[in-house]
Amino acid sequence: MDLTTSYLGLKLKNPIVVGSSTFTGTVEGIVNCAKAGAGAVVLKSLFEEQILSDIKKEEGYTDIYNSNPDADLYMKTFLRGNEIALYVNLIREAKKSVDIPIIASINCADKGEWTSFAKELQDAGADALELNISVSPFDKDIASKNIEDEVVSIFNEVKKTVTIPVSVKLGNHFTNIGNIAFRLSMAGAAGLVLFNRFYNPTIDIENMKVVPGSALSVEEENSDTLRWISLLSAQGIPCCLSASTGVHKAEDVVRQILAGATTVQVCSTLYRNGMKHIADMVAGLEGWMKKHNFNSINEFKGKCSASADVKVFERLQYLRRNNDLN
Ligand SMILES: Cc1cc2nc3c(=O)[nH]c(=O)nc-3n(C[C@H](O)[C@H](O)[C@H](O)COP(=O)(O)O)c2cc1C
Repeated sequence: MDLTTSYLGLKLKNPIVVGSSTFTGTVEGIVNCAKAGAGAVVLKSLFEEQILSDIKKEEGYTDIYNSNPDADLYMKTFLRGNEIALYVNLIREAKKSVDIPIIASINCADKGEWTSFAKELQDAGADALELNISVSPFDKDIASKNIEDEVVSIFNEVKKTVTIPVSVKLGNHFTNIGNIAFRLSMAGAAGLVLFNRFYNPTIDIENMKVVPGSALSVEEENSDTLRWISLLSAQGIPCCLSASTGVHKAEDVVRQILAGATTVQVCSTLYRNGMKHIADMVAGLEGWMKKHNFNSINEFKGKCSASADVKVFERLQYLRRNNDLN
């Protein structure tokens, strides 16, 4: 049974990727993911703010030592980049410790000085870079088009600095997901991760306070991902698709691949069921393939992507549902 898949131009032994999370924030955690059978890992994100705070530290020191060029060089060389240095070290050590692909991750909302630091992650040995671009639409005066332009522009800035494959992890708050997805892939994104899951606050009605909602997803949340993987795959998007949010069981892995995903990313299910759950998902995927006489992932990838006549399909579902309820 051939479970290999090609993601961002990398060969993975199976399509189950441990998504960016605390599991992938230490070398020990990454080794655990590899031992548990993951096809690849996406590292815990380095946040744009962390990179910027390092740059500010550097600026502070260079101001103080402005009068002495040697001290200035010393400060620039040795005191700069604590956060970046730690992250670079994580990549280096992880590369030495496991033989699965290591995808670095940057969480960002703005372009700027920090983008040039992406190259340091490449130089440390990252096999690819995932950009979690979270431009949140909280300002009513910013038009959707401007937000989308900003997302593409951030991607372009980073793409200029590195030669490794770059993927983009998107949220699902776009008016036309298909349009932004195609714009990014045409701009050179090697893959799209659908979707980022935002922390959803809720309200504690007894104390009348805004409180954080659950950090973990439930399986039912995967329908949006399934819909868009399916639609984009049917429309022939020229990049890899990775399904994230609500992939909890082997059946979900099968569904997302049938819809057109190349890989799935898992987090919440590992927090709920432990790292050993990767082996259950791999075994379940293999069992399903055996039952349906498939020898490789490619034989069924995209087999159930959306019908080409998407509009009719979507509208008919509503009609049918109305009839079911009557
Ligand atoms: C504790 C925790 C930490 C996370 N940290 C990051 C992060 O640093 N960067 C990122 O892009 N996503 C992060 N995520 C989001 C996950 O990568 C994933 O997109 C999300 O949990 C949805 O997938 P799931 O349903 O499999 O959990 C985090 C999720 C959790 C639960």
